[in-house]
Amino acid sequence: MSIRLSNGSEIPIEMHKVRIVQKVRLAPVRDRLRAMEDAGYNTFLLRSRDIFLDMLTDSGTNAMSDNQLAAMMQSDDAYAGSESFYKLEESVREIFGYQYVLPCHQGRAAEHLLAKTFVKPGHIVPMNYHFTTTKAHFDLAGGKVLELYGPEALVTESSFPFKGNMDLGRLKDAIDEAGPANVSFVRMEATTNLIGGQPFSLENLRQVKALVEPLGIFLVVDGSLISENAYFIRQREPGYENTSIRDIIREIMSVADLCYLSGRKSCSVRGGMIATNRKDLHEAIRPWLPVYEGFYTYGGMSSKEIEAMAVGIREMTELEVAGASADAIKYFVGLLQTKGIPVVTPPGGLACHVDAMRFIDHVPQSEYPAGALAAAVYITSGIRGMERGSVSMDRDKDGNDVPSDMELLRLAVPRRVYTMSHFQYAADRLRWLYDHRKMIGGLEFYEEPPVLRFFGGKMKPTKSDWGLALAQAFEDHFGPGC
Ligand code: F0G
Repeated sequence: MSIRLSNGSEIPIEMHKVRIVQKVRLAPVRDRLRAMEDAGYNTFLLRSRDIFLDMLTDSGTNAMSDNQLAAMMQSDDAYAGSESFYKLEESVREIFGYQYVLPCHQGRAAEHLLAKTFVKPGHIVPMNYHFTTTKAHFDLAGGKVLELYGPEALVTESSFPFKGNMDLGRLKDAIDEAGPANVSFVRMEATTNLIGGQPFSLENLRQVKALVEPLGIFLVVDGSLISENAYFIRQREPGYENTSIRDIIREIMSVADLCYLSGRKSCSVRGGMIATNRKDLHEAIRPWLPVYEGFYTYGGMSSKEIEAMAVGIREMTELEVAGASADAIKYFVGLLQTKGIPVVTPPGGLACHVDAMRFIDHVPQSEYPAGALAAAVYITSGIRGMERGSVSMDRDKDGNDVPSDMELLRLAVPRRVYTMSHFQYAADRLRWLYDHRKMIGGLEFYEEPPVLRFFGGKMKPTKSDWGLALAQAFEDHFGPGC
């Protein structure tokens, strides 16, 4: 939630109080440089003990509520028929309006099950934008991911409210060309992660449904950030100003045929699920659940997390919870804008995204500017962000690099974890880095996994040791030990 101060400015305000804390350490810059080198300039390979603010992701890193923690104490570990599952089912029925629920260990497990069941060689899978794990699973099943976003989607600095909308003309053309029988389904990601957490509108979702339904194609929503997408609909879509988050989520689900999600985001747990009212879809997926995940009533999740998810699904429909991260991101983005840092606008869900192509426009895309910026930010601040650019794209089948549409440094804002002073610190260090941006150079791989290389790949500076020079300049400015 945001609150207006008497001078007219707005700040994010915490609608909760802190009852448990976790200590963090701000290691000196020399230690940070060493940690970055050991991690192969890949922020995924850093250790927690070396990180001050962990803005890698909002996945599984949110502060849980007292009610979620309390629910975990009452879980039922029965292998089959666990009461915890029935509480989750009840919660999904109440909030999503879906009868059938399949739990799974996280979002990509749901994607695996969908790929296994519906994506066949030669199929296309149209979507508003891909997510890394989504594309990996659909590609592995022999499908072709088509990203059919509108012209506004890739404009980083914009005021367009729904950059996650599907382009209906492109969707129609793609289906005409492939033939409806060769379309696995259409997927709409609630706040498109890789292009800045940008939402779709309900109007667009309805139009997509109207187009595909008569063709016998079903509509899937990736609801990992469903409460944030609903929050943006309430703020930005005419006619929804006074609609509750609960009603907006219910309306989204009534348009979609099936929803899968990573429970690690909006729901603030560690798990995932697939839910639908379509018996045919449910029955097609269900047999595979015990093969890949676990029995129908736990699907690879711990019963404690299932309990917490049942609570989290209800809590994410509260306005203050749905907006907790979105309003903090808006504040963070605003701070960076006033300091002249190029960021993705309008502010989206999950993170503040810095435009690396503009921040370090002297680093060619072939040398991974977003990866280099993520490393430079860590060295100068102890803040761990995530590369969301060409490092996050795997090579094509001929071994060529695939340049990403955008080169973004993602500074994720886990829900209810960080406060205004953290964002002010981050903005200050980013400004210092912006003043020294010419010192940042490119990166090249020296170890590269064949799939999802961004997780485990290792890189080094292409030319001079710019990491060392940057650490030296930082120490010269702030003094040793900073
Ligand atoms: N869909 C979306 C939109 C996601 O953001 C993610 C994960 C997944 C699916 C996969 O879910 O991680 O539970 O298996 N996003 C995380 C992130 C990893 O950091 O953005 P998962």
